Amino acid sequence: MQCLHYDKTTLYMENVALSELANEFGTPLYAYSFKQLISNYKRFDDAFGDYPHTICYALKANSNPTILRMLAKSGAGADVVSGGELFFALESGIKPEKIVFAGVGKRDIDIEAAIKIGIRGINVESEMEYEVISDIASRLNRVAPVSLRINPDIDIHGHPYIATGRHGDKFGITTDAALTLIDRIKSDDYCDLVGLHAHIGSQIKEIKPYESLASTMASLAKKAIDTGHRLEYIDLGGGFGLDYERALTVDINAKGDDDLSLDPSEVIPKFIDAVKDTGVHLMIEPGRALVANAGVLITEVLYLKKTGETNIIIVDAGMTELIRPSLYSAYHGIVPLEIRDADTMVADVVGPICESGDFFAREREIQHVGRGDCLAVLTTGAYGYSLASNYNARPKSIELLVRGQRVKVIRERQSLEDLWNE
Ligand code: LLP
Repeated sequence: MQCLHYDKTTLYMENVALSELANEFGTPLYAYSFKQLISNYKRFDDAFGDYPHTICYALKANSNPTILRMLAKSGAGADVVSGGELFFALESGIKPEKIVFAGVGKRDIDIEAAIKIGIRGINVESEMEYEVISDIASRLNRVAPVSLRINPDIDIHGHPYIATGRHGDKFGITTDAALTLIDRIKSDDYCDLVGLHAHIGSQIKEIKPYESLASTMASLAKKAIDTGHRLEYIDLGGGFGLDYERALTVDINAKGDDDLSLDPSEVIPKFIDAVKDTGVHLMIEPGRALVANAGVLITEVLYLKKTGETNIIIVDAGMTELIRPSLYSAYHGIVPLEIRDADTMVADVVGPICESGDFFAREREIQHVGRGDCLAVLTTGAYGYSLASNYNARPKSIELLVRGQRVKVIRERQSLEDLWNE
């Protein structure tokens, strides 16, 4: 997280001491770095050089309206998976022609909205869905722009819950099924095959799966073009991973690291090389890689206890704010906002929720902390707030944007009345 550093013993995001945010706004809170968000987007964008492309940000990673507007202003398109995300993308100023719509279970009213609005492509995830899209388009007397979501049977060797491109996963259609649909759509007056799409999973840390994906998609695109389709784009999805372990070390004057697992300037040229013969526009759909390392979750230590041999640090945030450790056994760095004591202890860091699965870390070596100290849970800009819940009647936390030395509230903390009146 290059947006973080210790100035002597105090943790800063850009030019703001995070302890000041905790004092002023209370905890738990999410803080995001403007500079990191913009530079993440630019890093991917620059990697394309002159090649025609769109970076369709995957809204599911973090759909805070201010962050969406920032990305829209930088030129991002959107990958949406629901009518709600489609609405958010349009409200944030993203043009319909930069929006693609994925998801195995699109509702008829959302498909209808997408056709009427004129988005760039609706991803077909099954043969039955194709028939539904075609029927809706014929009822509207419109032509639906469709894109086939290919399941290329590529294993990314990651957590099974976030692998999406192996046969047996619920996503997309096989290349054989795609060839059949490429023929069928040719004679469909209500659907245009405008694109080919794939998203093989999340947290991809090796370049190999991407290389085989790009070459499978390029040869399928050639077949579609040979069949007579005016294919406009290939969308290779998101999934660019982060090394969560590399976010920041706890040390006086330490600076946050570059934590992207794959350098866009190496991956994107490989994509371009694979597809350039087809002459089509290239799309990618990063979510995590644009926002994860721009965000931290700040939480206060409530209690310390020991059960048996286990030291337990109980903090005021839990799986309601960040569910990734509970759901995927995901690792997040946890560091103090003030280094008070260089000595470390081994402890479980757990939340206040009435679930044993409510933890941020198990047997973690962590600086000694006391009641009232604050910790930053690192690399939580993606799939943090967007997966938050109100379980145990807990209001969702506040979200702040840090820019230089300025701080802006970009979502208010929910009140109990908000919950009760929902
Ligand atoms: N495109 C499609 C069609 C997707 O389904 C996803 C993520 C993305 C793009 C963006 O993937 P990314 O670049 O963020 O890896 N909650 C999990 C991740 C679930 C990802 C779901 N799909 C986590 O916290 O690790």
